[in-house]
Amino acid sequence: MKGVILYNPYYYNDSVQTQARRIAGELRALGADVAIRPNARTMFLSEKFGSDTAIEFCPPPDGGGAFPFGFAVFLDKDKYAPRMLERRGVRVFNSAAAIEACDDKMLTHIALAAHGVAMPETLPGLLCFDPAAAPDEGYCRFAADRLGFPLVVKECYGSMGKGVYLARDFKELLDIAERVKLSPHLFQRFVASSAGRDIRVMAVGGRAVAWMLRKSETDFRSNIDLGGKGYAVELEPPFRALAERAARILGLDYCGVDLLIGERGEPLLCEVNSNAFFAELERVTGANVAGAYAGHIARAMRKQGKK
Ligand SMILES: Nc1ncnc2c1ncn2[C@@H]1O[C@H](COP(=O)(O)OP(=O)(O)OP(=O)(O)O)[C@@H](O)[C@H]1O
Ligand SMILES: [Mg+2]
Repeated sequence: MKGVILYNPYYYNDSVQTQARRIAGELRALGADVAIRPNARTMFLSEKFGSDTAIEFCPPPDGGGAFPFGFAVFLDKDKYAPRMLERRGVRVFNSAAAIEACDDKMLTHIALAAHGVAMPETLPGLLCFDPAAAPDEGYCRFAADRLGFPLVVKECYGSMGKGVYLARDFKELLDIAERVKLSPHLFQRFVASSAGRDIRVMAVGGRAVAWMLRKSETDFRSNIDLGGKGYAVELEPPFRALAERAARILGLDYCGVDLLIGERGEPLLCEVNSNAFFAELERVTGANVAGAYAGHIARAMRKQGKK
């Protein structure tokens, strides 16, 4: 079983390095031969048009043979490399389709809504192509009338809570709309019962393997990077069921599902991360998330009959 862990060289900070090393370590403990490589020098489109061999593997930096990996663990959200790898028969964890569906929060909502997953009411934002244009007041008014104040505005490609805003009145909504108008975004009902809290569930192969309550005393966003703290809690069955359902619908091998807590204590899906960090969750709960992921990869590769 030979595989590679691919990362984005623009974004290879301590958290990503830890993630890569932990997964590699657990895979090696299962007997896999694993390299860690930047996603940048993996593949290119040659001029041999007309077949999948137009997608060629770059020679590795050490000059060895062609791309010799049966699987890739993709620690990035780039959508091109996973597609190219899959076209050349490499099993990618997560799959290209699953990464794409998760990367864009609005696409995630559309995919899950079709399956009846409970989520806060959400409206797509209007995309604007003119930096000089003012935000569309009529549409902002429509969103405000439907969702009430405060309401949440999210950039569809945000992460670590950075592209998530709370508008408390119409003036703030227009200011935020101005800020996000050039990138895909959405408007969402603010779930006040969940302010500063959510449940992060890590699912591997469609099963919850670890979870924690994330709580912030200073921000409506509970993200760890914004000062939220993780706490070990029991996972109530409806929360487990919703997280596992979302992971399965989206076809994710591995993901972090964020669940909000509704007024009656019911779960509402907030978002799904195809590339969630597990260090804090492992620290808080003692769970071996990397080990669960490695086990899933080994089982999937055995099933595929690849060594
Ligand atoms: N509709 C909502 N009502 C109340 N709180 C919300 C709502 N949406 C998001 N939040 C809070 O904001 C946080 C960040 O939102 P979200 O998870 O959608 O964004 P993110 O930037 O992708 O974060 P991540 O680092 O998990 O990728 C959530 O974890 C939650 O605490
Ligand atoms: Mg989140």
